[in-house]
Amino acid sequence: TRSVPVIAIDGPSASGKGTVAARVAAALGFGYLDSGALYRLTALAAQRAGVDWDDEAGVAAVAAGLEVVFGEGSIRLAGEEVEGAIRTEEISQGASKVAALPAVRAALLFRQRVFRCGAGLVGDGRDIGSVVFPDSRLKVFLTASAEVRAERRYKQLIGKGFPANMQAILLDLRERDRRDSERSVAPLQQNEDAVLLDTSGLTIDQAVDQVLDWYGSAS
Ligand code: CDP
Ligand code: CDP
Repeated sequence: TRSVPVIAIDGPSASGKGTVAARVAAALGFGYLDSGALYRLTALAAQRAGVDWDDEAGVAAVAAGLEVVFGEGSIRLAGEEVEGAIRTEEISQGASKVAALPAVRAALLFRQRVFRCGAGLVGDGRDIGSVVFPDSRLKVFLTASAEVRAERRYKQLIGKGFPANMQAILLDLRERDRRDSERSVAPLQQNEDAVLLDTSGLTIDQAVDQVLDWYGSAS
């Protein structure tokens, strides 16, 4: 599978990673891996099993045993649709907590690598270019100001009919940025071989076109 090209997209919360990655994948006929969903699923499954988010061995066992099926706009955990349940602020915080545990990251590594098949893969998430697929053909670090990101997340939640509070989102985002940046394993940071794309003033289409342009020059 080493010959299957990978595009890695990383960046802080609500920078547009998922949206841009999925659109780039569709444009190229590649698969798409939302690695953050695996951390969110782990946090949700641990909560449901009564395992504390700081119980490293317990959460790692949950991560290793996840029964997940990814579909178009759908994620099933042990047969139940959880696409909505894993996007709450509570589970976002839980995901960021369990993601700081090395044994959990190790348990999820293999589950991510099996997505590398077919014509190509676009992966999004913190360590996708640095650890999961270090030989990615293109690595992009997507960012945007915290205020722009909070507004995007707010509109996204309201649009899906979820309750949302702008101030709470901004606080949560800053808290998660801080925890994700300061942790010792796979911290949120721009790798030196990643290109920076600030989407604060860009539409989704413009961001997607830029990534496709870069990929065209890289291959
Ligand atoms: O979209 P957003 O950045 O808000 O979150 P996400 O990509 O769904 O990831 C949720 C949490 O999982 C993040 O806060 C990270 O702490 C963690 N994560 C990670 O550590 N490594 C990854 N490859 C993906 C997510
Ligand atoms: O995956 P990540 O948390 O980085 O962000 P996302 O869920 O893909 O994007 C957050 C929201 O921002 C989505 O509702 C996108 O439609 C929106 N977005 C935007 O308005 N402008 C962009 N240039 C990129 C994303």
